[in-house]
This record gives sequence, structure tokens and C-alpha cells, in this order.
Amino acid sequence: MTIEHEISERYSRLPSSNFAKILKIAVEDKDVISLGPGEPDFTTPEHIRDAAIMAIDKGFTHYSPPGGRTETKETIAKKLKKDNRINVSPEEIIVTCGSQEALFLATQSLIDPGEKMIVPNPGFLAFIPMVETLTGIPEPIPLREKNGFEFDPDELEKLIDRRTRVILINSPSNPTGRMLKRKTLEKLADIAIQHDLVIFSDEAYEKLTYDNRKHISIGSLNGMKDRVITFQSFSKSYAMPGFRIGYAAGPKDIIQAMTRLHIYTTVCAPTLSQLTAIEALTGNQSCVKEMRTQYNRRRKLIIKRLKEIPDINCLQPEGAFYAFPNISKLGSSVEVANLFLKKAKVLVVPGTEFGKYGEGYVRMSYATSYEKIEEAMDRIEKVVKNR
Ligand SMILES: Cc1ncc(COP(=O)(O)O)c(C=O)c1O
Repeated sequence: MTIEHEISERYSRLPSSNFAKILKIAVEDKDVISLGPGEPDFTTPEHIRDAAIMAIDKGFTHYSPPGGRTETKETIAKKLKKDNRINVSPEEIIVTCGSQEALFLATQSLIDPGEKMIVPNPGFLAFIPMVETLTGIPEPIPLREKNGFEFDPDELEKLIDRRTRVILINSPSNPTGRMLKRKTLEKLADIAIQHDLVIFSDEAYEKLTYDNRKHISIGSLNGMKDRVITFQSFSKSYAMPGFRIGYAAGPKDIIQAMTRLHIYTTVCAPTLSQLTAIEALTGNQSCVKEMRTQYNRRRKLIIKRLKEIPDINCLQPEGAFYAFPNISKLGSSVEVANLFLKKAKVLVVPGTEFGKYGEGYVRMSYATSYEKIEEAMDRIEKVVKNR
């Protein structure tokens, strides 16, 4: 007889995913074109892969200091100064197993049970479980299409109470592909100062911006250095998701707390990846530009094609590699994702996977080839026109 174990309450709080069911069908059917991926379709650029091979050959197979290797943190500090106008010392940086681990450590460091973090909704699907599993309270701030998927600062302010500790932002955004404007960031900075809050700024897609839009790090704004933790990643910019490497920069006391927690979870980010990351940041950057050019070409295609399909509207994606069209005239998010999968054999992610305010939308990733996107759009157009 097998024993049935009582799994923690924490586990039961994890969302049950409709997408898991959809994904299962897609994996089993080879004709399905997936617009689902949340990771680059590109292989890590060659000079970065070579650096990884060299690190193995040189025997860098040991643990690193928990906060990260000194040369990696020094390189990151230079990058933050040059690219993001954030001035931090290596002690104000922690290198982690992807930026997702950094987000988790920061949440653990600041949110006590019953305390609140305001999170964008729709937002990256790890945000809510990350707070809930640590017995904090995620407070969704709606991102509405009529506001260009930016939050409304007045509405945000109304959500703040004495239990609120952190406001999380993500620009460019997964899943909306939109970016927060400087004006919005400035308003947010004022709110954080006024209510004595910390801001988590998830900048995983910082290098993927289009039409000459410049990514702005809120940590670079006046008076924000002591209030902002900036989270960045190698996964998207350098197509290195499997290296599991990212980092966070922020106030020294918070980074120290995160580092202590890190010791008891993963010990350190992979040493090989930390060395490889130095090459990513200091080596030839044309690979970033080339990948961005490819994404942009696909983005333009997806926007053009979506415009031609009746009853679908899509706000222009500005960054990341996602389009988030409004499909509410065709049905609910899950119904439309099922329709596209069954009738068009195209996988898209229901907007509700990113929170309740994602209802009425689906996420289409263009981290897949131009030709596949073209075929997927042909199929969707046919299904919608013939329905
Ligand atoms: C908005 C956002 N933040 C963070 C992450 C995590 O990235 P990583 O842990 O690979 O750095 C992702 C991954 O999809 C993401 O979309």
C-alpha cells in the first residue's frame, strides 16, 4: 500500500494551471505551432559558449562565495553604471540562480507573514506564488489596456495600507510587452518615498526594447538608490536561460539578508555560469543587437497580421518578446486558447495564466521563427474568419 503524504499548506496555495492541460495536448501533437515559449529560441552565442567550455577546462568546478565571485560582481557593477545609471558597489550586488531566485530571496528578506506586496496583474506567473508560498499577501494592481497596460498611480495609492512593504514592477512586461513611461516611474518613486516602501524592479527584458525606446531603471531616479532592488537576468538578453544566472542590486542590508538566505538554499549561483556571465557582459555585444533585430522583425509581422484579423485588437508591444492581443470578442481567454489549439493547431497562453486581469487576452510569444509565426497567423486568421 502506498502512503498518502500530507503536503504542506504552502503547496496547496500554488495555482492550478489550465495551461498545463493545454501544453500537454500541444506536446503530443507534432502539427501544433507553439507561440507559448517564455525563453529565447536562439542558442547561447558562440563566444559565450566558448567561455563556458574554457571555465570547465580550467577546472572551475567548485563552490563560489554565496554572494557571487568578486570579478563577476565587479563586472556587473560596471554594467549597471554604464547601462542603467545605477551606482552600486560589489557589496550591493548578489549573483543568483536566475533572477527568479533573486526575486524569491528578496521577498523572503522583506515580507513577513501577513505583509503585502503589490504585484502587477496581469504579470509574470511566478509573482503571486512567490509571495503566497512565503505566507505574504500579494495585492494585485490591475494593468488595463485603456492605460496602455500601465498601472494607475491613484489606484495604486489606494491599495497601500500599513501592511504594505513592497511594490513590484516589471518593464518591459511579461506578458503585455509594454514598458512603463518615465512619468509613471517618477510618480511611483514619489509614492514609495511618501509611504516608505521598497520597490522591486524586475528588468529581465531590459535589452529587448524596440523602435529606439530606452529602458529606464527606476533605481537610477533621484532618491531611489536606497529603496529599489533591481533584478536583472542573462536568460533573455544573452539567450542563457539554462545557465541559471541572474542578479540583484540594491541596499546593502537587504542584499546581505538575501545572501544569508542564499547560503541555506542554493549556496551560490553556478561557478561556471558566473565566469561565463563575465564574457557575456564584456565580450562582443553584437549578438544582443542581432537577436533584437530578429525579434523586432517578428514583432512587426505579428502586429501587422493581428491587425488584419477581425475581432482581435492588439496594443503595440514595445519590449520583451510577447504580444498580448485582446480576444474578448471571440470568447474567454481559455476558450480562445482552446479554439486556436484545436482548430488552428496554434498554442497561445490564456491571459488568465497571468492573473485575473488577464481575462480577455492571450499571450503570443514571438520567440519562435518568422516562418512559424507566419504560418500560425495564417491558421488563426482562417479559423477566426470561418467561425
Ligand atoms: C518577467 C520575468 N522575470 C523573471 C524571469 C525569470 O528569469 P530568470 O530566472 O531565468 O532570470 C522571467 C522568466 O520568464 C520573466 O519573464
